[in-house]
Amino acid sequence: MDDTIATIFEAVAASASDIRDGFDERRSYMDGENPTGDRQLAADVYADEVLEEQLLAVDGVGSYASEERDSVVTDTGAYHVACDPLDGSSNLKPNNGMGTIFGVYDEKPPASGADMLAAGFVLYGPITTMVEAVDDSVTEYLIEDGDRTVLDENVTVPADPTVYGFGGRVPDWTEQFRSYVDEIEQDRLKLRYGGAMVADVNQVLTHGGIFGYPMLEDTPSGKLRLQFEGHPMAYILEAAGGASSDGNQSLLARTPDTLHERSPLFVGNEALIERLETTL
Ligand code: F6P
Repeated sequence: MDDTIATIFEAVAASASDIRDGFDERRSYMDGENPTGDRQLAADVYADEVLEEQLLAVDGVGSYASEERDSVVTDTGAYHVACDPLDGSSNLKPNNGMGTIFGVYDEKPPASGADMLAAGFVLYGPITTMVEAVDDSVTEYLIEDGDRTVLDENVTVPADPTVYGFGGRVPDWTEQFRSYVDEIEQDRLKLRYGGAMVADVNQVLTHGGIFGYPMLEDTPSGKLRLQFEGHPMAYILEAAGGASSDGNQSLLARTPDTLHERSPLFVGNEALIERLETTL
């Protein structure tokens, strides 16, 4: 693995312990909103600041983009990192899973999925784990005090899928999407949805299945952001032998026109994604 990418992974692992230690005291909402209109908790803002500092300190990182800030912070270097610093932060109050998602690009965002060099996520669950994807290989680590221990050096999407989770209110789903969900229910997949993409995608990586946030009747682009959530998860799932889609094509074939662009997005077992594209 390239040295800069290895150092970026180390920096995210180090940040993860600080971010997690900061949860207790940062459970209240701030006055502001992020660029896509989500209310910001103190923990969102803190996670963003920690990652900005740690990632821009890595030699070779030329920019830091985040779901929590309007524009890209630039430095000098050929590697560019885009982050969702605290994914699923509305889960902080009810004490459920949350995460950090990041993608590494060789172009400054907004960048194409084809420009990705690596990606990963941290899951703040009962334990803190980190999944890293690079060179078509996916590794899962346990993080303790910023240090990583390998849990699984070859993460692959299990061949027999068992779980699914889709965002949005069911009455707002399109008719085609509802018929797809009926079909996969007939295949005995069971619903697992927790409201934090990282935790829900990690269930798909662990048990096999599909996660998605579809287009809704009144919001055709869905809720999740292509650059900060879609690309990194697509990169990880595709490297683990799965697939990704916006309903028509791989998310990695897409380039956002604007940094915070939203897109319907799906990741999971290849056969489930193919069936989704056929049904939609
Ligand atoms: O970042 C947005 C996010 O919290 C994702 O982690 C999650 O998948 C989704 O929103 C949950 O949305 P909803 O509350 O509509 O289910």
